[in-house]
Amino acid sequence: MQEKERSPQTDGSGESCRKNFERNFSNLFGEMFPGAPKPETIPFLARYFFEESKVNLQELLESPNIDTGKYTKEVEEMVKSIVGAKHAVTTDDCSTALKLSLRTAGVMQGDEVITTAYTYIATPNSIENAGAVPVFADIQRDTLNLDPQDIVKKITSKTKAIMPVHFAGMPCDMDEINAIAKGRNLAVIEDAAQAFGARYQRKSIGADSEIACFSFDSHKTVPGEGGGVAVTRREDYAQQLRLSRYYGIDESYGQDYYKKFAVETWGENGYLSELNGALIAGSLKHFKELLVWRVFVDQQYREHLKDSGLQFIRPDSSQTYSAHYVTPVVVDNADKFIQAMASRGVRAGLPAIRNDLAPRYGGERRRDLPVLNELEFQIAALPTHPGMGMEGLEKVIEAIKKGW
Ligand SMILES: Cc1ncc(COP(=O)(O)O)c(C=O)c1O
Repeated sequence: MQEKERSPQTDGSGESCRKNFERNFSNLFGEMFPGAPKPETIPFLARYFFEESKVNLQELLESPNIDTGKYTKEVEEMVKSIVGAKHAVTTDDCSTALKLSLRTAGVMQGDEVITTAYTYIATPNSIENAGAVPVFADIQRDTLNLDPQDIVKKITSKTKAIMPVHFAGMPCDMDEINAIAKGRNLAVIEDAAQAFGARYQRKSIGADSEIACFSFDSHKTVPGEGGGVAVTRREDYAQQLRLSRYYGIDESYGQDYYKKFAVETWGENGYLSELNGALIAGSLKHFKELLVWRVFVDQQYREHLKDSGLQFIRPDSSQTYSAHYVTPVVVDNADKFIQAMASRGVRAGLPAIRNDLAPRYGGERRRDLPVLNELEFQIAALPTHPGMGMEGLEKVIEAIKKGW
């Protein structure tokens, strides 16, 4: 993406968000999100579909054969081109992509996989569903992502893989994590569910990955009604993922059913549906607008709220920037902040509930996660979705300026 699109300039003169936005974007995209609903209360997460998704869907509904694979293939081609990845394999959701990826990378029953406790529960759940045990390492203060130094401390003889999560779209320190993994022959499966479009060291997250998995859940940057994709640099992994997302059946045999059903490998029904493919393909056509909007919203928060008492996490740079799924902020008391915003018609949210508290994953606050222990009740997040529009963005900023 060009620098101008990624880094909208603002002059800091106190102009409204609207003026800044118009100056920077209107000639690039015109009316960005036509027909977006304007609810009284700004939701924390919301979806927006462009006309192309609706047209694709309509075409499918009217066609005699719904299951041609046309749109799922189109999604894979578009993902490869946007991300710069060698291979892309779609799945019914990102959770499936994560689980199949772990197994593809050789993770087996009883292995340990190091990840963060501060993520959506789908992350440890995918590890568990692959037969392995999630082991939680601490987070970094300035990114809320896995701390490479603590990963090293959590490695045991049973560790088989690391699952970094690009939390809220913020890229993890992948150079350090990959170096730790390489030296110990560990697999790295990136949970990039929230990070489609994020960039690290000038490349898209996923461009060079062993495996990275993105989500097309309806609230993510590129919405479907669910859906996921695994990208990988490895041909053997891509081939295994293609087989295992559909019972191990090799679809390249087409109508040759005897060969097709002579299944040799493990698998399940984790195929992306065409209906979902149709929605996602429409959204991917507008990937730029969807991402630039979120980058812009995050920038506006940082600029207009720098004296508000909110602390922001690591800012974007020319090398590395977040997909801004939401804007995480550190406050003195997250609950109080969220309640104050709700009273002004703005839904801020908790970006995650730590997973070590879930009985399934230990059921108690682990002492060996000191940064998470310290920040746990201080992390809230602000909405960045296109549905909020300029009026919504201004409303959020004004609500925060009133204090909490
Ligand atoms: C960090 C993270 N990992 C995994 C997932 C699972 O994605 P999906 O809903 O597509 O299965 C999500 C979904 O919100 C997520 O936020």
